[in-house]
Amino acid sequence: MNGAEFVEQLQREMDAVLAKLDTVPVAPPGQEYASAIQELLKIALKSELEASEMAALWMSTTPELDVKLALARQCGDEARHFLMIQQRLQQLGVEARNLNPVAHGYSPLYHYLRTLHSTAERLAAGQFAREGIAQKVNLQFIAYVEQSGDEQTARMFRETIAPEEDAHHEFAVRMLQKYANTPDAQEKARAAMHKTLSLADELREVAAERTGAAVIPAS
Ligand SMILES: [Fe+2]
Ligand SMILES: [Fe+2]
Repeated sequence: MNGAEFVEQLQREMDAVLAKLDTVPVAPPGQEYASAIQELLKIALKSELEASEMAALWMSTTPELDVKLALARQCGDEARHFLMIQQRLQQLGVEARNLNPVAHGYSPLYHYLRTLHSTAERLAAGQFAREGIAQKVNLQFIAYVEQSGDEQTARMFRETIAPEEDAHHEFAVRMLQKYANTPDAQEKARAAMHKTLSLADELREVAAERTGAAVIPAS
């Protein structure tokens, strides 16, 4: 199977797993939107910081120049998303300037991603799957925020953050087509994608329980 055929197959497998995220949950009656959205934005901060750090870590140990430079750009994008969300939290009355979302540790998904060493498995997990999830959950999050009437937060995600997460996923598609071109690379990439999808499921469940909202933004 060449790289392009492999990525098509990977996308079908991921779509099947993520079909559950296609519906937009309706907030329960009486939902306390303001505090839920603040909690969700704090979760988003952690996701942005972890994505930025992961891209930085991988940039220095990725030999393929096109992937290395795309990781550098992603690192900057995620850091900018972090700052935008931090600023929005401030506007919503949350003292977020010194909020360190990893002060109590990183997520299990971040720890797993750090164990990956080949370019194909990193791309499949960190950009293809992680950003593929982000595409879906951010649409859900935007719809939820719109229901709440917080148009400014919705616009920030709709116009800037979500399109850039889409671009991170697209970069993984192109790079996997190019570099996931041996049976060994493809096997590792597929395993890394599925592991990422299941770790992200667990993270979302924990976050949903904590916030009472079934829409968890991701980067
Ligand atoms: Fe991203
Ligand atoms: Fe992001």
